Amino acid sequence: MSARAVRRSLPAGGAVVVTGASSGLGRECALELENRGFHVLAGVRRGEDGEKLVGESLRGRLRYAVIDITDDASVRASAELVEREYGGLRGLVNNAGICVPGPLECVDSDRFRRQLDVNVVGQLGMIRAHLPLLRRSRGRIVNITSGLGKTAVPYLGAYAAAQFAKEAMSDALRRELTPTGVRVSIVAPGAILTPMWDKVSEAGERLLRDAPAGVAELYRASFGAFMEGNGQQSTKSLTTPEDFARTVARALTDVRPRTRYWVGADARSAGRWARLLPDSLLDRRFSPITASVRAPGRADYAFE
Ligand SMILES: NC(=O)c1ccc[n+]([C@@H]2O[C@H](COP(=O)([O-])OP(=O)(O)OC[C@H]3O[C@@H](n4cnc5c(N)ncnc54)[C@H](OP(=O)(O)O)[C@@H]3O)[C@@H](O)[C@H]2O)c1
Repeated sequence: MSARAVRRSLPAGGAVVVTGASSGLGRECALELENRGFHVLAGVRRGEDGEKLVGESLRGRLRYAVIDITDDASVRASAELVEREYGGLRGLVNNAGICVPGPLECVDSDRFRRQLDVNVVGQLGMIRAHLPLLRRSRGRIVNITSGLGKTAVPYLGAYAAAQFAKEAMSDALRRELTPTGVRVSIVAPGAILTPMWDKVSEAGERLLRDAPAGVAELYRASFGAFMEGNGQQSTKSLTTPEDFARTVARALTDVRPRTRYWVGADARSAGRWARLLPDSLLDRRFSPITASVRAPGRADYAFE
């Protein structure tokens, strides 16, 4: 066996759970891991998405479970199913997520709570439920964050808040779990074309429709331009879901898993900016996004 093969050798036995496998990065990741010989339990929210995914799998090692990570009962059922059907868990890939876009002034509390509920609270719920199994196997947790986990861009503040929180949670968990042999890695992708971008664009339109008219008007033009630029960035991105899936496989199989894997040059740059640039320079870097927002005269700025 070559050194490379040894370095990437598969952990024996047990399953890998991937959340949010109905589409985009989670789907690609579930198929890639199955193709590499893992037994994969793919978390989806609708049975029909699971059936479709199983139909696309090639090696008969992929099954699905209905897992809504914000629903404690379904999270507990996932851990019970893994124990019963696989006898162990080698890895948990916390991929499921949503993105609530918009100027923070327009993001109402229900939307903000939902953002944190799915991307932070639900992730910890999955981790808590599966940790007894992971401890037994000295397994791995792979938390998917984003280039926005270290750099908060205007108009993606709610999403960035959730990603920062997931980063902090991952760092603390890694330090807490090291003595037990459970390894925690972050995989932070930049822009990758997936169905998420259409969902974000629709969510942005709904957000402005629901915001008080005066507030929505204040941001409409610059937020619209930002969303358009964002969409183009994902379409032009050279990073693919396959790049992402291969990186997750590395985090699960590297003999010495890294604490963090960036996927894509844009994600890596965002991380570098956060580390090296002072806030004032970052503010200047992002100021073109909001340059057209002008405080209107008091008379035409009315909350409704
Ligand atoms: N694509 C990018 O450019 C990019 C960049 C950086 C980070 N990411 C991160 O990568 C992850 C995957 O994103 P993606 O681009 O693949 O997006 P996606 O295609 O929208 O996939 C998101 C997945 O999460 C699932 N999900 C949403 N809410 C859930 C819940 N409450 N319980 C369980 N599953 C839930 C969705 O299920 P349904 O189909 O049932 O809604 C879907 O399977 C996310 O965490 C995202 O923040 C993506």
